[in-house]
Amino acid sequence: MRIEGSEIMKVRDIQHPLLPEVTQEEMSRQRAVVSMRKLINARMRAQNVRRFETEGAPAFAARHGRQPQSPDDIERAFFESSGYRMWSAVNRSVQEMIWVSVGEPIFRDRSRMEAAARALIDSPDKIGALELDPAYDPSPEIAGTDVHLQPGGYARADTPDDIVAGAFYETGGNIYSFGQGAGKADSKAGVVLNLLNAEFPDFKPTRILDLGCSAGAATAAYAAAFPDAEVHGLDVGAGMLRYAHARAEALGVPVTFHQMDASQLKFADASFDLVVSHNMLHEIGPEKRRRAMAEAFRVLRPGALTIFQDVDTRFALSDVHRVEKNWDAHFNGECFWKAYNEADLLADMLGAGFAPADVSEHNMEAVSNLNRWYVISGRKPDAGAAA
Ligand SMILES: C[S@@+](CC[C@H](N)C(=O)[O-])C[C@H]1O[C@@H](n2cnc3c(N)ncnc32)[C@H](O)[C@@H]1O
Repeated sequence: MRIEGSEIMKVRDIQHPLLPEVTQEEMSRQRAVVSMRKLINARMRAQNVRRFETEGAPAFAARHGRQPQSPDDIERAFFESSGYRMWSAVNRSVQEMIWVSVGEPIFRDRSRMEAAARALIDSPDKIGALELDPAYDPSPEIAGTDVHLQPGGYARADTPDDIVAGAFYETGGNIYSFGQGAGKADSKAGVVLNLLNAEFPDFKPTRILDLGCSAGAATAAYAAAFPDAEVHGLDVGAGMLRYAHARAEALGVPVTFHQMDASQLKFADASFDLVVSHNMLHEIGPEKRRRAMAEAFRVLRPGALTIFQDVDTRFALSDVHRVEKNWDAHFNGECFWKAYNEADLLADMLGAGFAPADVSEHNMEAVSNLNRWYVISGRKPDAGAAA
């Protein structure tokens, strides 16, 4: 089914030929994994702090003769609780099940999907572009890690037609996001578009850049929301980008995708009026994060905006809640998760060149209503103010 670009933001279950064909049995299994994630990660997880207080901390105190105080102590105390250990093991198993449940249809249908992608990529009528950089070398953390256990990770690209990284990201991401992720008109872009509508209603960007775009769901959503804008997306892996490009073509939205590092943009100074990223800050580590923010500042035109949306793990009621959120760093292949949770992102934005009055943080409700997102935005001073 081809959806007109302007319709993308309204459709909650986007279909396109890059998606694997799924049998009834596979569909049931995927729905079961979504249900398990809702039970284990949303409902049962809420009990972890109580498990720490009633089992973990007393057992830690009995063993060490002191209350757990430092983050390391708190982490050890969590593991003194058998209830927490059981939750942790089951949560890890459910995370593994995500990839098994989407991997079977992907690998069965892979040659059809790759042929469909190749036809879209090679089409003389295509409306977007794909600029791969064979010399690009993703950092070892990205190339060598199955981030959130996705098999082969973000940079997976085994053959010249490989699109598996993108297929995994879109289909697995939907299950990870409780059935509401990429492909559901991208709720993360919807959050930023809601913010723009509320705070900058007259803002009409003409050149947009999406950093760390993965399968290009948010990028396509921006192209649909601003049909007169020139939209660019970038990421590190050729397999992911081939998928994103073919997906955007299938959906009828013009986007140029680049294999490029967010911390080393090959775009001219002052060449964009909106630079966004969705869930990239927690994947890139402090050094690249600061360089990516400085690069965003550099490529923004005077008066233009950058908006970084990310996971809400930074909103913690106490040290115990904060440490509880570090589970993904240890058991879900998220090597920079902890660094992101503990980062002073406001300071990083100021270090990148933004003025304090032009930076704001937001705690936003997801469009799907199932979770919340952290958002930090910065506006580059306009030419008059900067002079
Ligand atoms: C959690 S995914 C988010 C993808 C997408 N924006 C979304 O919200 O669905 C993070 C993405 O950031 C990309 N990434 C990691 N390091 C990067 C870097 N240095 N430059 C550009 N992208 C990077 C990863 O490859 C991955 O696709």
